[in-house]
Amino acid sequence: MSSDPAPPPPEMTDPRRLRRVLGTFATGVTVVTTGGATPHGMTANSFTSVSLDPPLVLICVGRTAILHRRLAVGFFGVSVLASHQQAVARHFADFSRPMGAAQFDGIDCEPGRVTGIPLISGALAHFECELWKSYDGGDHTIFLGRLLSIDRPESGDAALLFYQGRFHQLQPGWSEVTA
Ligand SMILES: Cc1cc2nc3c(=O)[nH]c(=O)nc-3n(C[C@H](O)[C@H](O)[C@H](O)COP(=O)(O)O)c2cc1C
Repeated sequence: MSSDPAPPPPEMTDPRRLRRVLGTFATGVTVVTTGGATPHGMTANSFTSVSLDPPLVLICVGRTAILHRRLAVGFFGVSVLASHQQAVARHFADFSRPMGAAQFDGIDCEPGRVTGIPLISGALAHFECELWKSYDGGDHTIFLGRLLSIDRPESGDAALLFYQGRFHQLQPGWSEVTA
């Protein structure tokens, strides 16, 4: 018996269709940051909680992303964006933004209390992480981080969402689904 995997069905070789179907899964939006001499930030919606004990989260980062190389520093920060921070999300997803510290010019940031990594002010939550493990994820790498600090400023702001390839705002007073 051949151990070669079966070729993928045609709809899975069409990246546009794949994106459209995967885009039905609504997510929040984060900016993942690294610090040091050449700080960096990248918009990511792959952020997921993984484990409470030990406290672990994950992000999936494209192998060609600059952040992928920057994560070698061993620490990263995550800022969960609020509904009014769409411009920040667009900025850190823009290939033409300046690199290094200059990409944070005009962006309101504060240093993480454990690592000093820049975190986006006005975000719904901040996490500081130490790189725990990384796994092959095809054209991405799955990075697990162990939480070093968590912070949830009580702003009362609602979340920025990403759904079907577009940004959406969760409005204050959103309706809760009841049974
Ligand atoms: C809403 C949104 C979510 C994104 N999520 C991810 C993600 O989880 N992982 C990833 O590698 N790229 C993601 N991207 C794309 C990167 O933000 C984008 O390619 C960025 O320019 C890469 O930055 P860098 O190469 O300077 O690190 C996302 C983009 C948007 C707009």
